[in-house]
Amino acid sequence: MDWGIRNRLSRIMKPQDGKGVMLAVDHGYFLGPTERLEDPKKTIKPLLKHADSLMLTRGVLRTCVDSESDIPIVLRVSGGTSILGEDLSNETITTSIEEAIRVNASCLALSIFVGSKYEHQTLKNLSKLVDEGEKYGIPVLAVTAVGKEMARDARYLALSCRVAAELGAHLVKTYYCENFEKVVEGCPVPVIIAGGKKLTEKEALNLTFNAIRDGASGVDMGRNIWQSDHPIEMIQAVRSIVHDRQTVEESINSFFMNKNMRSNELETLKTR
Ligand code: R5P
Repeated sequence: MDWGIRNRLSRIMKPQDGKGVMLAVDHGYFLGPTERLEDPKKTIKPLLKHADSLMLTRGVLRTCVDSESDIPIVLRVSGGTSILGEDLSNETITTSIEEAIRVNASCLALSIFVGSKYEHQTLKNLSKLVDEGEKYGIPVLAVTAVGKEMARDARYLALSCRVAAELGAHLVKTYYCENFEKVVEGCPVPVIIAGGKKLTEKEALNLTFNAIRDGASGVDMGRNIWQSDHPIEMIQAVRSIVHDRQTVEESINSFFMNKNMRSNELETLKTR
């Protein structure tokens, strides 16, 4: 693999353990001002120092992140449809490679929709992006988006991840599922997981723990961090599981205990 690609990847997936905590704040590209991401600047700022990388669009990057920041950028470069559109899978490449270089992106991110109406188009997008990225030493993260009609099971996710890797993705993001180790086994590049819809803090930490145990190389997590009432503690707890191999109980004790939290609130967090 090209030196530049390896170097950029090592900024996202820490070489000490090969793992990474990517903070996802790209949701607005099709969802608009999602709850607790209405003002991205406010959401992002306190979390930045706890993340290994930040996944977002160029619009939010330019307007909501200081250009002096040294956080590695995972630039979402696919889109072109919204939740009001005819079909979410109808995506195109929305940002040029020149723009990605201008904003000093460490990685490019693009969604593929395997099994959906626009499968072919999104797979072509991925192949084209890998070709472009490789010209300049920029790795590509393939996001395996799951259409409403698809089951989020190991068979489907393994297929999507493998297709992404075969087309040249350097990193793949998918969802945790039963028999997740099969998804990882079938994918020759590192797999990271999305958090998905907001769960309780304990459930989201369990999800993180199980994914790492079953072979994930990290997380690309958004809502379960910034929609929590305790986003800083949440990202710290996720980090301690990903990088320090803490258990869920240990991560709750390390971070939520320090918080000036009412004891009944803490008990709820630990038991639910
Ligand atoms: C989809 O909207 C994006 O690719 C998100 O970045 C991804 O799903 C991760 O965010 P969350 O943990 O909120 O699912």
